[in-house]
Amino acid sequence: MKTLAVLSRKGGTGKTTLALHLAVAAQSAGLSTLVVDLDRQQSSVEWRRQRRDGALIVEALRPGALFTRQQDAGRDGVDLLIVDTGPSLEADVEQAIRCADLCAIVARPNFFDIKAVADTAALAQSFHRDVVFVLNQAPSRRNGHENPAVGEAVLALRGLGGVVAPIGLRSRVAYQQSVSLGLTAQEHEPEGAAASEIAALWRWIDARLSAERAPAPHTPTFVALGAERAARPY
Ligand SMILES: Nc1ncnc2c1ncn2[C@@H]1O[C@H](COP(=O)(O)OP(=O)(O)OP(=O)(O)O)[C@@H](O)[C@H]1O
Ligand SMILES: [Mg+2]
Repeated sequence: MKTLAVLSRKGGTGKTTLALHLAVAAQSAGLSTLVVDLDRQQSSVEWRRQRRDGALIVEALRPGALFTRQQDAGRDGVDLLIVDTGPSLEADVEQAIRCADLCAIVARPNFFDIKAVADTAALAQSFHRDVVFVLNQAPSRRNGHENPAVGEAVLALRGLGGVVAPIGLRSRVAYQQSVSLGLTAQEHEPEGAAASEIAALWRWIDARLSAERAPAPHTPTFVALGAERAARPY
């Protein structure tokens, strides 16, 4: 079993959105997937209550119970444990980091988010964890051009010592609409751009979790994978 912790001590960066979309992608790929929600707000658990599909298990958990739950899940045949965390205390985030094979730190491409994730990244690195940054709510390209804020964010995140996932999530209504229905964007709009980027991001995360670490992209650019480019190698 592998454990993915989704982190950022700043509120509203997209931790829950990312955790749930990756969980559904993993489950759809045939992995037995468990989401545990350490956040007292219990957004993931609320989403699960809205959901009709019974396959994906989402549980609320006290951070102190994570290690034991992880051991049990491994014994029960869970393939992937995803830990959704809150904008919370260092002690809670530390529990998630300790249990993680991979720490995905979520940030939007803005000054405040980037500054706020530095501590989280340093904490994960102090435990020698594999750290990847996932950009969320990136503005869409205009006339084929990336917004400069995206490139700046990628460079700043690299400066914190982690790898930036070459696929991030754009700001899209599909993410908001789908979760309000207890769905994910790939279920709500399977042919949509959000579904494409989630599929590509999941493949990259899965490779990183399951094998030798995926190579970092060579250029400091944010690779946008639209539907037409979904087959492009990382
Ligand atoms: N890529 C996106 N495009 C558009 N809206 C998004 C995107 N990602 C997240 N959102 C919206 O931003 C808000 C915050 O997202 P989310 O709850 O996932 O963040 P969070 O980091 O889990 O927040 P918290 O710190 O409170 O747990 C939600 O309304 C969500 O629908
Ligand atoms: Mg959340």
